[in-house]
Amino acid sequence: MRVQEVQLTTVPEESVTEQNFGVFDAEVGGPDKGQVLVGLRRLGLNAGLAHRLGGGGTAYGPGIGVGDVPESDAVVEVLRSEDKNFETGELAVGKVPWSTAAVVEGSGLRKIRPPASDDELDAHLTILGHVGFTAYTGMIHVGGVGPEDVVYVSGAAGGVGSCAVQFAKARGATVIGVAGSDEKVSLLTDVLGADRAINRHDGPAVDLLREAAPEGIDLYYDNVGGEQLEAALDVLNTGGRAVICGAVSQSSGGPDNYRNMIYKELTMRGFTVTAHEDLREQFESEVGDWLGEGKVQSLHSVFEGIDRVPEAFETLLAGGSTGRVIVGVEPQRG
Ligand SMILES: NC(=O)c1ccc[n+]([C@@H]2O[C@H](COP(=O)([O-])OP(=O)(O)OC[C@H]3O[C@@H](n4cnc5c(N)ncnc54)[C@H](OP(=O)(O)O)[C@@H]3O)[C@@H](O)[C@H]2O)c1
Repeated sequence: MRVQEVQLTTVPEESVTEQNFGVFDAEVGGPDKGQVLVGLRRLGLNAGLAHRLGGGGTAYGPGIGVGDVPESDAVVEVLRSEDKNFETGELAVGKVPWSTAAVVEGSGLRKIRPPASDDELDAHLTILGHVGFTAYTGMIHVGGVGPEDVVYVSGAAGGVGSCAVQFAKARGATVIGVAGSDEKVSLLTDVLGADRAINRHDGPAVDLLREAAPEGIDLYYDNVGGEQLEAALDVLNTGGRAVICGAVSQSSGGPDNYRNMIYKELTMRGFTVTAHEDLREQFESEVGDWLGEGKVQSLHSVFEGIDRVPEAFETLLAGGSTGRVIVGVEPQRG
């Protein structure tokens, strides 16, 4: 089958530009046993991939040299299958090359339900994807958020945080988010529905949180650790809960004020999303319904056409987009 693919053509010197890539015609063969020929529908781009261009690999994948075709997670359509779990026409998510079609291992694909709209397809790379599933596991399952809770979310405008804020609102809680710029603060209150939002550069975390939450907080969703976790432990009400999702702000150590857990009978619980695959069906159903009802939304910017992948990637790296950058591709079926 004739396909179009995006290759790295030159190693970036300072910043990555669209000129570092080219779009070429190529040929793919048929799938072998256990493999699936898939057509690309929506490609999600990640800034982290830039670190691998022309260099060594990172935890997220191998180095990418001149002539290589990078890979990203995507929504794909099954065109031909030699894996008994997949049939032609089904949709799935998985990691695939930047190409209009490709042969991939069936074991690397996860089927998704037929979407109500293109928007729902894109959501599988955002709020119905990995970051959404992480936030759902942490906020709904571990945190047990409810309408009576005042919830504080750190890293609130980030990938996981923006979903955590929306899920807590969808469950009826009062939500306070903290982020690192005035622009993100506006996004939190004006777009994501947070009741209050803090710019963490405006002062000491504990002072800002006390001011934003005079009634105290009942649940803290922690993406960052460090100063934010200590502030939350000071402001949590008796019997409060802290969900430990991530600790990007610290490399070691823990909160100095953890004794608050004794005096205020706090519960702190961490989680690893990959241990909660059993929640996947409930997650897709509940968040899919919230999306349909307009209670939550997928934050993304879309570019149409495989030939726009280089431009989309440059825009992402230049910070000129909101939410995840996604490239839409017309289904190629023969
Ligand atoms: N437990 C799990 O299974 C699981 C699964 C996936 C991800 N995670 C974790 O979840 C967290 C969020 O992931 P993500 O993909 O949403 O990342 P992300 O989009 O990069 O969001 C993280 C946010 O943290 C904030 N931040 C960065 N450095 C900070 C610092 N020094 N102090 C305070 N805030 C800081 C930044 O927001 P501002 O500058 O706007 O504050 C950033 O947007 C990460 O810690 C990740 O490791 C955990």
